[in-house]
Amino acid sequence: MAEVFDVTLNKSDTPLGLADFRDAFSQYDAVLPTVTDRLSAAAFDLAKPRTRILANYGVGFSHIDTARAVQHDMIVTNTPDVLSECTADLAMTLLLMVARRAGEGERELRARQWLGWRPTHMIGTKVSGATLGIVGFGRIGQAMAARAHFGFGMKILVQNRSAVAPETLARCNATQVTALDDLLPQCDFVSLHCPGGVANRHLINGRRLGLMRPDAFLINTARGEVVDEYALAQALWFKTIGGAGLDVYEREPLISPELIGADNLVLLPHLGSATAETREAMGFRVIANLEDFFNGHAPRDRVA
Ligand code: DGY
Repeated sequence: MAEVFDVTLNKSDTPLGLADFRDAFSQYDAVLPTVTDRLSAAAFDLAKPRTRILANYGVGFSHIDTARAVQHDMIVTNTPDVLSECTADLAMTLLLMVARRAGEGERELRARQWLGWRPTHMIGTKVSGATLGIVGFGRIGQAMAARAHFGFGMKILVQNRSAVAPETLARCNATQVTALDDLLPQCDFVSLHCPGGVANRHLINGRRLGLMRPDAFLINTARGEVVDEYALAQALWFKTIGGAGLDVYEREPLISPELIGADNLVLLPHLGSATAETREAMGFRVIANLEDFFNGHAPRDRVA
């Protein structure tokens, strides 16, 4: 990026505050936030920003008040495609870990409490051939379906806000279910791949957790706000669901003690896109959007 632009880097690797962002908006033509930067309406409270483009490093952009950005004539872009495979890999990691009690097993062993092989030790749930419900059938949801179908022979059910093309469903022999409430009771595993933001806040709430089977598992690699964490903690502690695997949280990086203490839960620190290959590809996608914009073209990944 420094070869092409006059770049100022946030070398401290800690998120900027609201005042820092207002300052950046008054000084720079482009600003490149990440998911940890909370760009709420207050960040845009300045009279005449200089910034013309917010090129977000990441696919999700619910941390940016895009309506306020647009009011200031700022364009917003993201980095789709390049992180779909690694995020789906991580969703499958969580699914396998929670079903086969891999986190619990490792904790037991590291605590030197393993007593050796026995027929009833740490019995998990079979993944192969089970039914997976995918909520949100965009690029990441489809990559998850491919892994589950071709790798594990899982039956795929899909819930998506618009109708999915029959040929897209056919690739994984998937069936679309219109209502989320109808999908949940049919699944052994439910994996969330829908966008975050106000529209999907607490999409998975106490009532919907109650619709899941008592031995079913919930996987969230989408956005923390999609799941009501308090309701999830209750479902885990009272064992009204089998368990959960989370990579994202409502108040990152804060994790509630109720979740930390739940044994039937696997917790990862927002690692979905965290491979060297993907993080580098995301960076090049940001540059491509900036080059589009500053060369007078429509940025390829404009979201607002
Ligand atoms: C994204 O891209 O939205 C991830 O959550 C952060 O990499």
